[in-house]
Amino acid sequence: MDLQKVLDEIYKEIRPHLGKGKIADYIPLLAKADPKAFAMSVVTLDGAHYHVGSHTERFSIQSISKLYTFTMALREHGDKLFERVGVEPSGTPFNSLVQLEYEHGKPRNPFINAGALVVTDSLMDLYKDQFITLENLLKFLRTASETPDININPAAAKSELETGYRNRALANLIKDFGNLHHDPLEVVETYSKQCAVEMSTAELARSVLFLANRGKDPLSGEEFVTPSQAKRINAVMLTCGHYDASGEFAFHVGLPGKSGVGGGIVAVVPQKMGIAVWSPPLNEYGNSYAGTIALELFTTKTGLSIF
Ligand code: DON
Repeated sequence: MDLQKVLDEIYKEIRPHLGKGKIADYIPLLAKADPKAFAMSVVTLDGAHYHVGSHTERFSIQSISKLYTFTMALREHGDKLFERVGVEPSGTPFNSLVQLEYEHGKPRNPFINAGALVVTDSLMDLYKDQFITLENLLKFLRTASETPDININPAAAKSELETGYRNRALANLIKDFGNLHHDPLEVVETYSKQCAVEMSTAELARSVLFLANRGKDPLSGEEFVTPSQAKRINAVMLTCGHYDASGEFAFHVGLPGKSGVGGGIVAVVPQKMGIAVWSPPLNEYGNSYAGTIALELFTTKTGLSIF
């Protein structure tokens, strides 16, 4: 299959959709993104890579960071992690507070904001403070993407912290239920910084190869997680990676995927490849509008879905 030809076709077909949707502006810095920006990258298990658009341009990975913190936490804590966070789809928006109250502070899954805050708190248990926690996250990302200069954009983190009242509310509520070990503000600060990591689609697609290869990076040989843990991470991505649109994403795209409000999405084709796409305007669920369509075009054209 000529994957470059497939991407070139998608690049042509996606043009009428670029600019549709709404750029996230509740984090003021994200509002500055170009609504017409687009990139898509595919990296296969043998290291071959294919790209279209601005695939070297870095953008705010936002909630895609939750995929890596979840991976690190599962690797370090094992199944004990699930005493603090569930694995069921929430059916609610990514920043919803309601479920948390009546489910006594145990978030439904690691990808909604509440769950990601607990996961980050669990990493702070291991690494003691936010700085060492973030250093370990960056180390993980640099190793998984084979890119030594992946970093946090401090302006994006500051912008999120200045307006992040809802995340503070979530952290405080979880703390009240006894499911947060650190100071809620410190956890929100760490979380906002992890969301402010910047990566390109080329780097993102490369970084998820271990999830397409049963936990082991096929190029470096590094075993990030066990095959069983990789299976679980992919399953949670499929069922919860797009919040209350996870069903729609599975229906249209048919791959495990994780989105972020910066307009990025990563997806995994088990045993084959990592994919990343970027287009800043979002649909009503907070997932990239054109990015989702591009991924649907990809699985339709190639037949490479898990179903
Ligand atoms: O906490 C927030 O609201 C953002 N830092 C991340 C949200 C996000 O990316 C949701 N994903 N589509």
